[in-house]
Amino acid sequence: MGSPVLAGPALPLLLLVLLPPGPARGAARFDPTWKSLDARPLPAWFDKAKFGIFIHWGVYSVPSFGSEWFWWYLREKKIPKYVEFMKNNYPPDFIYEDFGPLFTAKFFDANQWADILQASGAKYVVLTSKHHEGFTLWGSEYAWNWNAVDEGPKRDIVKELEVAVRNRTGLRFGLYYSLFEWFHPLFLEDEVSSFQKRLFPVSKMLPELYKLVNKYQPEVLWSDGDGGAPDTYWNSTGFLAWLYNESPVRDTVVTNDRWGAGSICKHGGYYTCSDRYNPGHLLPHKWENCMTIDKFSWGYRRDAGISDYLTIEDLVKQLVETVSCGGNLLMNIGPTHDGTISPIFEERLRQMGTWLKVNGKAIYKTQTWRSQNDTATQDVWYTFKPKSKLVYAMFLTWPTSGQLLLGQPRATLGATEVKLLGHGQLLNWTFSKQNGIMVELPHLTVHQMPCKWGWALELTHVA
Ligand SMILES: *[C@@H]1O[C@H](CO)[C@@H](O)[C@H](O)[C@H]1NC(C)=O
Ligand SMILES: *[C@@H]1O[C@H](CO)[C@@H](O)[C@H](O)[C@H]1NC(C)=O
Ligand SMILES: *[C@@H]1O[C@H](CO)[C@@H](O)[C@H](O)[C@H]1NC(C)=O
Ligand SMILES: *[C@@H]1O[C@H](CO)[C@@H](O)[C@H](O)[C@H]1NC(C)=O
Repeated sequence: MGSPVLAGPALPLLLLVLLPPGPARGAARFDPTWKSLDARPLPAWFDKAKFGIFIHWGVYSVPSFGSEWFWWYLREKKIPKYVEFMKNNYPPDFIYEDFGPLFTAKFFDANQWADILQASGAKYVVLTSKHHEGFTLWGSEYAWNWNAVDEGPKRDIVKELEVAVRNRTGLRFGLYYSLFEWFHPLFLEDEVSSFQKRLFPVSKMLPELYKLVNKYQPEVLWSDGDGGAPDTYWNSTGFLAWLYNESPVRDTVVTNDRWGAGSICKHGGYYTCSDRYNPGHLLPHKWENCMTIDKFSWGYRRDAGISDYLTIEDLVKQLVETVSCGGNLLMNIGPTHDGTISPIFEERLRQMGTWLKVNGKAIYKTQTWRSQNDTATQDVWYTFKPKSKLVYAMFLTWPTSGQLLLGQPRATLGATEVKLLGHGQLLNWTFSKQNGIMVELPHLTVHQMPCKWGWALELTHVA
């Protein structure tokens, strides 16, 4: 992104010079209190975007077994499944840290990833810059010998993806960052003191996070992993005040709600509330459904079977339900240790893009309607474009009768028009005996269907 070019006479230039340098002149300043920070309006791009891709990639992608929580389950919980896996596959003295050098990213091509992300129809991406294992995907000076530049790929993964995404796609670039680290000695020492000591945030997490933001300028900062410590331990409010007032992304950055024990679903930017949160009803606050294509893991698992992956029908349903209720969908993939996006993930991403090409008008830049789902027919979800007064009814099952009953729209004879996205012709409709309308769907062969996993009707002049 270039800097703005100032055209025109010398006077505005002079004024500009005389103004004090620094943050967002004219914009609100935020105090390091939740009261002030929570009142910051969410930058508008985020609600319009609706759909993002989450990427979990780290040293856990090397064993790629069970879960990205592999290290914790092995070392802390000693879960037999993980202990056995190590016993059966690695020498007796092989420890998790030894997976670091095997995280090669040999086939990682950021441009290829960016092109797949673009093809998915997503408008933002969030990469795990550091998960709870503490391994950083960039050369953090605070993660000596436990980062992607010193070890494994010997490459700045964050930078490569940032450049590719910003150079080749229209997606916003975002970063996930785990506050705590399972086994960091300073964190463990603080924990023993019931977080009276603050060695870890002061000497590791905070300086690292400031650096990360300054260096890669993420427009989504997806915080996670409070480790049971309160936001005062993490100095989350101090950090966020800087992020919103001074940081290079102060005008466009969005953050989530995971900033310390008890802050989730309560403080910060948009709400995530819990993993795979999909309430099925309208929320008064912007929220995001972060979920995984692999039902059981965020990191790549070699032990996943085909039925462990959500189908494209499942994913379209998630998107439609989420957006109708005011949320964004953040859909996760887990690349392999050598940097490939497995064909199953790639296929799902491309399928989402195919669906959005036809139905994107019913998703992007929409708002919630007075009704989120239909009362007469199940699995019909509504969105709304107030300016053009268009209501979208997305339906996930094509009725065998060829007629779709919509109980919610109040139509007007001679005015209300109904179209199927991707088809275009006006459809006939009649008032139903109950409330609402009965829409005559077009008689299409399989090949004439604009898409196969969910459809959208565009309605004009309905109340
Ligand atoms: C985009 O790519 C070009 C050519 O590969 C490169 O010179 C340029 O610096 C890149 N832009 C950004 C924003 O990184
Ligand atoms: C918290 O962060 C703010 C802003 O960087 C800083 O001024 C303040 O000293 C920090 N407080 C603590 C307790 O770390
Ligand atoms: C959809 O609407 C019906 C009312 O017809 C309601 O009972 C239901 O809880 C709603 N939500 C979901 C997720 O179906
Ligand atoms: C709408 O109904 C009229 C009258 O029954 C019929 O001639 C026409 O073909 C129908 N149009 C569509 C698109 O089904």
